[in-house]
Amino acid sequence: MGAIISGTGHYVPEKILTNKELEQLVDTSDEWITTRTGIRERRIAGKGEATSHLAIQAANRALESAGVSPEELDCIIVATVTPDMAFPSVACIVQEQIGARNAAAFDIEAACTGFIYGITIANQFIQNDFYSKVLVIGADTLSKITDYSDRNTCILFGDGAGAVIVEKSEENRGILSAKLGADGSGGKLLHQPGGGSLNPASVFTIENSMHYIKMEGNEVFKFATRKMSSSALEVIEKANLTVEDIDFIIPHQANIRIIEAASKRLNISKDKIFTNLDKYGNMSAASIPVALDEAVRNSHIKKGDNIIIVGFGGGLTWGAAAIRW
Ligand code: ACO
Repeated sequence: MGAIISGTGHYVPEKILTNKELEQLVDTSDEWITTRTGIRERRIAGKGEATSHLAIQAANRALESAGVSPEELDCIIVATVTPDMAFPSVACIVQEQIGARNAAAFDIEAACTGFIYGITIANQFIQNDFYSKVLVIGADTLSKITDYSDRNTCILFGDGAGAVIVEKSEENRGILSAKLGADGSGGKLLHQPGGGSLNPASVFTIENSMHYIKMEGNEVFKFATRKMSSSALEVIEKANLTVEDIDFIIPHQANIRIIEAASKRLNISKDKIFTNLDKYGNMSAASIPVALDEAVRNSHIKKGDNIIIVGFGGGLTWGAAAIRW
């Protein structure tokens, strides 16, 4: 018995924020952003458009592509660092809105690695015969916590949601192996200090911009290139495969230079690596499932292909999974 991904879907907001527009906000240039990151534009959620709104659209598309009705779902897991509010969870909001009345629902938080944590949890539920059909969503609206006067961060992030249905199957394919990791000592390299129980929302936290993402870009960069390649290799070995057996890699879409450095370390050709960060930037937990859905819908991924999803993020966290499609 295995856990296959039987359907995928994604949604991004309509509003586009280009590099040229960012030139009006901070001291930067289209040329700097493109050469240092590979990002050309990103999507931004509108006023009143919350993470759950994006997640619901992605979920409905994934359900449709899997041919699964909302009532059949046993569980909904949403990976996000930008929930609509502290509670209820985004997963509970999605559960109500899509009519998944038989599903348990909860959020998890592992920043940009959240989707990989989510499908690994779903895989365990299915392998243990606890659930048969789990909806896993990666959804974030980082624009809501981005300081558009900080050129170190505001050029990087965009909003979006991606979803998959993880389903019990007797077929000889599905999630083959997974690896999750964390190093809390790097927490300060990427964090949002205000608004939680340590620094509850107050005039002080707002005046000191504590509700925005703070990042040590260089340190995150070095950590990311190391972990992307090592965790991909670990899941390849764990699945009894070699790098040559891999048909496609879907990496977290943070920076084209991180992806290129990791692919060099893995010694895998660029045409086997999916990227869409030029259009969307870094969408945190949504990056991998949005890329996965685009790769499936554009027929880059075909049944029987061996694929790797791999990512890193705040926490610090990292993870990878090998999947036979
Ligand atoms: N426009 C123009 N110049 C800039 C900009 C900008 N937007 N941002 C920084 N600079 C300047 C810096 O001030 C610096 O100037 P100086 O040399 O005069 O001091 C110079 O450019 C070089 O800065 P670096 O920080 O060394 O630039 P780097 O090549 O490292 O690129 C970047 C910065 C893009 C942030 C890179 O470090 C990166 O991608 N890091 C990883 C970020 C990431 O992946 N975060 C994950 C978030 S995941 C999550 O969990 C939310």
